[in-house]
This record gives sequence, structure tokens and C-alpha cells, in this order.
Amino acid sequence: MSQRIKALVFDAYGTLFDVHSVISTCNQNFPDQGAALSQRWRAKQLEYTWLRSLMGRYEDFWQVTESALVFACKSLNLSCSPATRTQLMEAYLHLDPYTEVREALKALSNYPLAILSNGSPRMLHAVVKSAGLEGVFSHVISVDEVKIYKPSPRVYQLASQRMSVSETSIGFVSSNSWDVIGAKAFGFWTCWVNRSAAPGDELGVTPDVTVKTLADLVDVLKA
Ligand code: LAC
Repeated sequence: MSQRIKALVFDAYGTLFDVHSVISTCNQNFPDQGAALSQRWRAKQLEYTWLRSLMGRYEDFWQVTESALVFACKSLNLSCSPATRTQLMEAYLHLDPYTEVREALKALSNYPLAILSNGSPRMLHAVVKSAGLEGVFSHVISVDEVKIYKPSPRVYQLASQRMSVSETSIGFVSSNSWDVIGAKAFGFWTCWVNRSAAPGDELGVTPDVTVKTLADLVDVLKA
């Protein structure tokens, strides 16, 4: 199986970078509400990507993320000043990578490595730089090029095109179950990083492998 893989493509948010590292900034502004706000913010952010894709009304991920933050605050009755909104949005540019990310990517560096993400180019470059991962990826690919969000097949096709690697030779890695399923349905070999032991989505498609962390992926690909 690993012989067939010629390149590895990673999702960004939730897979390499912990979106819930905004909780501390949320708590600074809204004591004890950080976890709830972060959960609602992320859930609404994803929902807006799907809705905008279905409506054919693409806005980039920065705008979607800001709209989701506004909604999440309103839904929790939190009054978010423009300064706080700016501070919380800036936190998205400095998300923490998961602890094993740097070492795992180093161990996988015999493959061309890429990011394929909903994030806008500016957001992705900022978070990669902030995490000290500059130079690790041969390609940092944003859905902004095709103006539709995951799990549209057009997004996965973009990675294959940009890397000049056929879909069957790409290993796609994501912690978002629906993203892995979209990628597998498109034709990638897929690895679901299931850190929280969550049930898989019932969409009739199963990832090729499921691991707990990216360190386990290193072992799978060596086997
Ligand atoms: C991304 C979303 C799925 O990075 O988190 O594309």
C-alpha cells in the first residue's frame, strides 16, 4: 500500500493546527465561556463553508470565520467589541500545531508534503510560519483557487493537479471525518486522524486507515 503513495496531503485546521488553541484568548475576553465559544465558532465556520458552497456564494475562509465568530458570540449572548473580534481573529493566525506534528512531518519528509485547506492563502501562510513549519511543504494549496469548499471533488482535484500526482497515488490525511470521506470518495488513499476516538460519519465511505495521532501514520507508512 505505501508503495502506491507518491505524495502526502494534509488538512490544516484540526489536523496539523489545533483550532481550539483559541480557547485561552476566548477565556481572556469571556471568562469560563472559552470552550463553548470555540466549539460553536468552529461548528458554525464549517456549516457556513458547506452552505456557501451549496448556494454558490463563496466568500474566503477569513470572512467565513469572522461571520461564524459573530454568530457564535450572539448565540451565547456575548457582546464582542470590534477590538475583541480583531484579537480573536488574529488568534487564528497563530494556532498551535499538535504536539507530534513537527516530528511526524520530519519523519515523513521522504514524501513530497502538501497542505490542502479551506484556509485562505494569507491565513495558511501565517499559521505555517507561526508554527515554524516554513519550508516543510512543497505546496500549500488553498480552496480559494477554485472558490468552493471541501468536500467538493473540485478541491481534491486541485491538489492532484497542482502536485502533478494522480489521485490514486495521493495519501490524504485529515482529522475531519467528513473531509477524509470526501477525499476517499474522490479517489485518494485516506488516513483519518481520530484523536478523540469519535464515531466515523455514516456516509457509506470508510477511510483506508484510522490512527490516533500523526506519529501512528509514520508507523503505518513504514509497514
Ligand atoms: C481545512 C478545514 C477542513 O483546513 O479544517 O480545510
